Order: sequence, then structure tokens, then C-alpha cells
Amino acid sequence: MRTQVAIIGAGPAGLLLGQLLHNQGIEAVILERRSADYVLGRIRAGVLESGTVELLARAGCDDRLRQEGLPHGGINLCFGGRRHRIDLAALTGGKHVTVYGQTEMTRDLMEARSACGAKTVYEAAGVHLEGFQGTRPVVHYLKDGIAQTLECEFIAGCDGYYGVSRQSVPERAIETFERIYPFGWLGLLADVPPVNDELIYVNHAKGFALCSMRSNTRSRYYLQCPAEEKAETWSDDQFWDELRGRLDPEAAERLTTGPSLEKSVARLRSFVAEPLRFGRLFLAGDAAHIVPPTGAKGLNLAASDIRYLSEALIEYFSGGSTAGLDAYSSRALARIWKAERFSWWMTSMLHRFPEVGPFGHRIQLAELEYLVSSEAASASLAENYVGLPY
Ligand code: APR
Ligand code: PHB
Repeated sequence: MRTQVAIIGAGPAGLLLGQLLHNQGIEAVILERRSADYVLGRIRAGVLESGTVELLARAGCDDRLRQEGLPHGGINLCFGGRRHRIDLAALTGGKHVTVYGQTEMTRDLMEARSACGAKTVYEAAGVHLEGFQGTRPVVHYLKDGIAQTLECEFIAGCDGYYGVSRQSVPERAIETFERIYPFGWLGLLADVPPVNDELIYVNHAKGFALCSMRSNTRSRYYLQCPAEEKAETWSDDQFWDELRGRLDPEAAERLTTGPSLEKSVARLRSFVAEPLRFGRLFLAGDAAHIVPPTGAKGLNLAASDIRYLSEALIEYFSGGSTAGLDAYSSRALARIWKAERFSWWMTSMLHRFPEVGPFGHRIQLAELEYLVSSEAASASLAENYVGLPY
């Protein structure tokens, strides 16, 4: 088999790239290790920057998003038992974020891909990349136990943190930067109305909490927990009691509980690989970087990589210029590091860090007080939260 671009991974990054290329008449084949149902079963983030929404529109995949996505013009910070609103819209000249689950976005992209007849190979095993340092890259894989070969002009490594693409690069050619946080997030999804019409980020002596949502009838809540915590050891009642205890009295009173649809623990990590280009192989999304979820930048950063990469590939295939491809790594990394800084900062300000003790906690509270009382500080948070310019 032969194609123009081999895309490894059918997460949001790979699917979005596939659709943007298809719309410009560029052929791509996506190779995905898992089944489509497995990919759709993963519960991930749910807050989109306006740049991400624009890119979905460019991909022609924004119909349901426009109908069902919830525009949010503010977020709330809760500390010292009180809630404070950050007016994102007023502080950014009218910008907002859109609450729409990554699972729904993935479903829309998958449907668009099958509607246009573009090829995705699910359950592609043993994906192996070759020849990307030369002019004729080849991807080998197994489908139903039979060896297959995909020849291409470029490979897009969109296969997440544990994918094969980054691992195919010789160690001496890549530098990685990492910070692992000493805690995780225990998440719970339930069909109950959200406790508040906007997100609440909580700094509490017992640890961070977050009240988020997927719709007006489905809530997503998180609690800071030990990194090694097992979700199965938490009953729903224990979760709700712990969450209620970390909220301000008014929100605690209003919290509606119900049976969980899903409970899981995610560990928090910051990670960046440099560079993002190795000959004809390009890394994008979680394959290239990870942010802790505080601030909801993971999916948006994957989308901004894909914006730069799709524009570069389109420029190349339409006129032969390699300028965009040559600039991809440095353009994408400049934005990645800013989102890394923001996610690290939000994480540092809102979580309990065992090693910093009471002094560190007082410093966090002082920072939060400053943030909610200074327009300059609030504007900086708001500008980052709605998404920095491309
Ligand atoms: N071969 C083929 N596919 C692979 C391989 C492999 N060796 N390894 C991983 N994959 C697939 C995974 O099964 C997954 O479906 O690559 C896909 C990567 O998707 P994601 O992990 O969702 O990463 P990405 O598309 O970069 O999305 C960015 O935003 O909210 C954040 O971290 C969250 O997933 C999210 C991300
Ligand atoms: C989510 O809804 O899953 C979510 C929202 C905001 C975050 C992280 C996760 O900062």
C-alpha cells in the first residue's frame, strides 16, 4: 500500500490531521493499535480553546459542537472556603472556552472520516517505522496476523505518550524534559446536573478538587489523590463525601450525587520532547508532550500542533515549499512551552505538595488572593486559559 502521509494513532491529533489533509485532497492512511470502540471508550478532557473550535470548523467537524458545546465565559477559584469568579470574557476582550468532551470530538472526527471513505486501519499491531531519515519512509505492521507495508512521503507520529513514533528516534537525536508530580487525580463521571454552571478549581487543605462537566446533565469531578491510588478502593459515597468536604459551603449544599459511570486515576506529568522533526517523521500531540490536566491544555496543544503541521504539509503538497515543514518544530515548541508553563503553574498553585509544608500552603493562598484581587494577574490567567495566539 502507498499513501502520501502515514498517520500513526487515531486519537484527536491523528484524526484531525487526517481530516484537514483530506479536505485539501491529500491522501493519508491512519494506523491505530486499538479498536475504534476502545478509542471512544477513553474518558478524557473536555474544554476547547476557540482556536481548537476554529480548527474543527476548518476540518468540517463542528456541527454537533456548535449545537451541543457549552460556551463558558468564566471559571471559579475556590480557596479559604470562598469562591471567586475569573471573568474570562471581560478580561480577554470577549473570548470564551467551549465545554465539549474529547470523546465527542473524537466521535465526530471518526464519523467524518468514514463518511469520506478515508482509510483507517484499526487494530494494526506491531507498527514499525523505517527510512524516515531518507526520502522513502515505510511503515510495517500486522493486520489480522498478516504482515503489511505502507510506503509514504511523510510519517505523522500522533500515537500518544506510549506510542512507537518517539521511541523510533535514536536516543542521541532527541532530548526530553520531564517533571512527575507526587499525586494523581481521581476522576468520577456521573449523570447528575453539574454543581455549578461554570468550572470550579479548588485549593483545599486536604487537596485539590475540580468540578467540571460534559453537559447540563453530566458532571465530571476530580479529587487530588496519592499517585498510587486505586480507583476501585473508592466507593461512590466516599468520593462524594470527600468532594463535598473540599467545596465552599454553598456549593457543598447544592452538590447532586448519583451512581458513577466511570472512576479512574490519572497520574500528573509534564513532559516535552525536542525537536519534533526527524527527517520525514513529525511528532504531534501527546507523542511530543504531556501537560498535567490543570488548565485543560492537553487536547488544545495537540490541536495547535496539528494546525502547524497540517498547514506545513498542505503548503508542501500544493507547491513544493518545505518552509513550513522546516519551521514546524520550532513554531510548535514555542507554543508548547508556554502551555507547559501555564499548566505547571496552575498545578503548583492549586495542589497540596507534601514537601512544601505550611509555608508553601500560605504562599499558595497569597498567590490566589493576589490573583483574584489584581486585574493584571487575573488577565494573565484568563489570557492563557482561553488560549494563547497561534
Ligand atoms: N501503533 C498505532 N497506534 C498507537 C500506537 C502504536 N504503536 N501507540 C499508541 N497508539 C494510538 C493510541 O491507541 C491512541 O489511540 O495512538 C493514539 C494516541 O491518541 P491520544 O493518546 O489521544 O493522543 P493525541 O491524539 O495526541 O491526543 C491528545 O489530549 O486531552 C489530551 O492527553 C489527552 O488524548 C489526549 C490528548
Ligand atoms: C475535564 O472536564 O475533564 C477537565 C476540565 C478542566 C481541566 C481538566 C479537566 O482543567
